[in-house]
Amino acid sequence: METQGKNKLAVIVVAAGSGERLGFGMAKAKVPVGSEPMLLHTLRTVVSARIAGQICVALPAGDADLRALCESLDTDRYPKITTVDGGATRAESVRAALAALDAEVTAVLIQDAARPLTPVEVYHRVAQTLAAGALAVIPALPVTDTVKVVERSASTGIAAECVRSTPDRAALRSVQTPQGFDLITLRRAHDAAAGLNAEQLEAVTDDAMLVEAAGVDVYVVKGSASSLKITGPWDLLLAEALLAGPLAPRWVEG
Ligand code: CTP
Ligand code: MG
Repeated sequence: METQGKNKLAVIVVAAGSGERLGFGMAKAKVPVGSEPMLLHTLRTVVSARIAGQICVALPAGDADLRALCESLDTDRYPKITTVDGGATRAESVRAALAALDAEVTAVLIQDAARPLTPVEVYHRVAQTLAAGALAVIPALPVTDTVKVVERSASTGIAAECVRSTPDRAALRSVQTPQGFDLITLRRAHDAAAGLNAEQLEAVTDDAMLVEAAGVDVYVVKGSASSLKITGPWDLLLAEALLAGPLAPRWVEG
């Protein structure tokens, strides 16, 4: 798919996290999935989606290895790849990348490096929905677990938490990336969040929530089970099984 005005769409890849929960003692973007670093999988799919006029990657500050990995892809065959130093939180990493976009960019997709197996079809669905006029769009899947809202229990001697309520599962979605935005809308939403303190910034786990706070409609398209986020070792096991295991040849879901 070639989106109209391709050079006006940038893809930001946030890869500046430390990967505490994965526990490899290295930046998560460097952790091998199969035989290659997680970030390389993610970047390769961004490139093969052929939607980006610019790719901007937020890296752990001063990480020469990951910068070299990005530069190794930066040839005439690929869109321009820019790297920036990320920040202490995901939201700050996004903000650093937003400041480095080319002047002609009018729309942006933001992808977690930690979702190395997001299929190109998901990038296309998000880009097409932006092209159709959405100011914000996210990929999502129905929630399969029953989800509870909990609160601290009054009788901590029995158990620490109690159930407060059970939201209607039919209305719940599990949200993924890439999330797509009109650039002015997203910049405004991030500017409005500039006054948040460190704890509040830590709680900004995706970009759509900042745009929602500004009252903008956020459209939802179908995500993909293979777009899982690698958070802990179990996720890595699953991703490697999808890549190389007996399921791979049968794994046709987009
Ligand atoms: N991210 C980032 N800058 C940060 C924190 C996170 O760019 N300061 C990115 C991560 O690199 C990842 C995505 O945001 O691609 C989602 O974050 P998460 O899964 O929490 O990754 P980490 O922060 O690396 O993991 P952990 O929270 O376990 O340390
Ligand atoms: Mg994190």
